Amino acid sequence: HRHLKLGLFGFGCVGQGLYHVLDETPGIKAEIKRICVKHKNKTRPLSEDLFTFSKEDILNDPDIDVVVELIDDAKAAFEIVKTALQNGKAVVTANKKMLAEHLEEIYQLQQQTGKPVLYEGAVCGAIPIIRNLEEYYDNDLLTGIEGIFNGSTNYILTKVFEERKSYSDALQKAQELGFAESDPSLDVKGFDPKFKLVVAIAHTFGVFVKPEEVINIGIDRISDLDLKFARDNGYGIKLIARAFKVENKVFGFVAPQFIESTHPLYAVRNEYNAVQVQSAFAEQQLFVGKGAGSYPTGSAVLSDISALTYDYQYEYKKLHQPHDLKFTNRLTVEA
Ligand code: HSE
Repeated sequence: HRHLKLGLFGFGCVGQGLYHVLDETPGIKAEIKRICVKHKNKTRPLSEDLFTFSKEDILNDPDIDVVVELIDDAKAAFEIVKTALQNGKAVVTANKKMLAEHLEEIYQLQQQTGKPVLYEGAVCGAIPIIRNLEEYYDNDLLTGIEGIFNGSTNYILTKVFEERKSYSDALQKAQELGFAESDPSLDVKGFDPKFKLVVAIAHTFGVFVKPEEVINIGIDRISDLDLKFARDNGYGIKLIARAFKVENKVFGFVAPQFIESTHPLYAVRNEYNAVQVQSAFAEQQLFVGKGAGSYPTGSAVLSDISALTYDYQYEYKKLHQPHDLKFTNRLTVEA
């Protein structure tokens, strides 16, 4: 069986992480043929021949089977994904903003072109949450999903709240470690976990939601009084992403919350993420793992590539099932 040829877009934190984990993982029948990058005068640790500055070199190369999209710019990323599918290529992406903004179109494009788009790396880093959500059989089975969907802010909260470090030092460290977005306000103001929640909602409930419909309140809104209150009462503070079903409505939000010490999310520290799935019959299940960072996120991207190497015909069950759920950003359920 021939190796899959990959065309990579972007060689930043996740792209380099993917290169490393692919290199270190024996037996994966895939190889990187070309890497398209933006900046011409950066020195790169690999042979110059591997790199190109022209996206056509990948998108129009009939030898490339899979486009792996790992760039920052969501708008440019969507154009790459669209063209790749139209040109008969499978796509792997970790771009949560792009996915949250275009998930329904991407779903339709997959149906039109018959080519898959996999994005395990886009939601909660190394935790294989997308495919696991799809493994729950019945559409009505899942009643809620809740968790810590952003590594940077969980890292900052750990340093500031538990270790009493300064906020700006903690943020700077999160940037140095490659956890933060290039625009860290996306983390701090809760946009990044909201994008992930929007994607997770589609696979939990089969509902397409627009990011604007989900409320996000960031860690920048936590006051000194909140910190004191939490310390005095033995609570933790976590940035929680949550969606749940009330009758035929789905409600979702991102906000900092006080967490009791007995709560499963209390012990989730640093760049770790956690997802607690609530199901009618299976009850609660908790997934914990690294939510940010070069190698952990690279490993999730690799899991998608690996899936494609064995002709994995991935069908998103939740997105296929008929349902009568509607998304609401109001908690009050109409009579
Ligand atoms: N900035 C993101 C985070 C990276 O901190 O979780 C992983 O998506």
